[in-house]
Amino acid sequence: MDSAAIAAIVDAAASLPELEDARVRLLGKKGELTGLLKQLGGMAPDERARFGAHVNALKEEAQARLDSRRATLEARAEEAALAAGWLDVTAPAKDAHRVGRLHPITLLLEEVIDHFTGLGFEIASGPEIEDEWHNFDALNIPKDHPARDVWDTFYTDRGEIPRTHTSSVQVRTLSLRKPPLRIIAPGRVFRNETIDATHHASFNQVEGLLVDRHVTVAHLKHTLETLVTRLMGRELRTRFRPAFYPFVEPGLDLDVECVFCGGRGCGVCKGSGFIELIPGGLVHPEVLRACGHDPSEWQGFAFGMGFDRMVMMRYGIDDIRRLYDGRLGLVRQF
Ligand code: PHE
Repeated sequence: MDSAAIAAIVDAAASLPELEDARVRLLGKKGELTGLLKQLGGMAPDERARFGAHVNALKEEAQARLDSRRATLEARAEEAALAAGWLDVTAPAKDAHRVGRLHPITLLLEEVIDHFTGLGFEIASGPEIEDEWHNFDALNIPKDHPARDVWDTFYTDRGEIPRTHTSSVQVRTLSLRKPPLRIIAPGRVFRNETIDATHHASFNQVEGLLVDRHVTVAHLKHTLETLVTRLMGRELRTRFRPAFYPFVEPGLDLDVECVFCGGRGCGVCKGSGFIELIPGGLVHPEVLRACGHDPSEWQGFAFGMGFDRMVMMRYGIDDIRRLYDGRLGLVRQF
């Protein structure tokens, strides 16, 4: 009896009763593998040890093959029942022992909220369907300006915009309130992207906005670095790179040491040792002005992190589609 013989016996089973027969034939009291152990009696001690280990490995292999064959046959039976338009709704639930858990996005978001509320930030929200003014105009992105193309915008029949970023909540907050203020705004955003392992047409961002007197890039840097340390559980190397977003000046991208290779360079970070994580910058005077504030009196910083990537890094999830295919559960919305 060897691996190939075991595989042949298990795979020949075409139904669950036949699979049970196969199990008895291999592992039952009088089964063939059990029978092999009986030969141990007549062996010399070191031969016995070797042969015993060999048989045990075969038994484990047989069990693993039986389990996987069972899963296949059960799935097939279910498909057949469904195809026949018949499903036994009184059958005991499979996998009922699996306890539900919060979605990784929800789990990490709770940490982010805890971190920022501890620093005196409030949680803000805005509608997922926006108008041009909140999504673009007030953010210093003029109509017909090429910068608008960056966002791969969806439009509804009525010309509304499923918001392309949570920066619209900056505008909503600044239009309603007087500084000083600090908010974060977690939420879903939408872009006309081709879906693959790292892109989705609907994903989550967490926007941050602080407006006060004498705010500088140093405040932004410190805020983001402490956030990364908190979320990743240790201090990672970071760097700022200049970047362009019409609603900040200067605009910056925070890169963080690649957690997959420790900064040595790998496929995930494309050899650079860094992963681009959080875009941000100082709130553009035009944005403050559009929302009714005097930029000579107030300054602020803003950032907008792509939250899914953060979740993927933290939990080692390598495909963004896993976050939304239902197997991980629902994402709590704010
Ligand atoms: N809203 C930008 C985007 O989605 C990110 C961003 C937010 C950049 C805040 C700067 C400041 O691409």
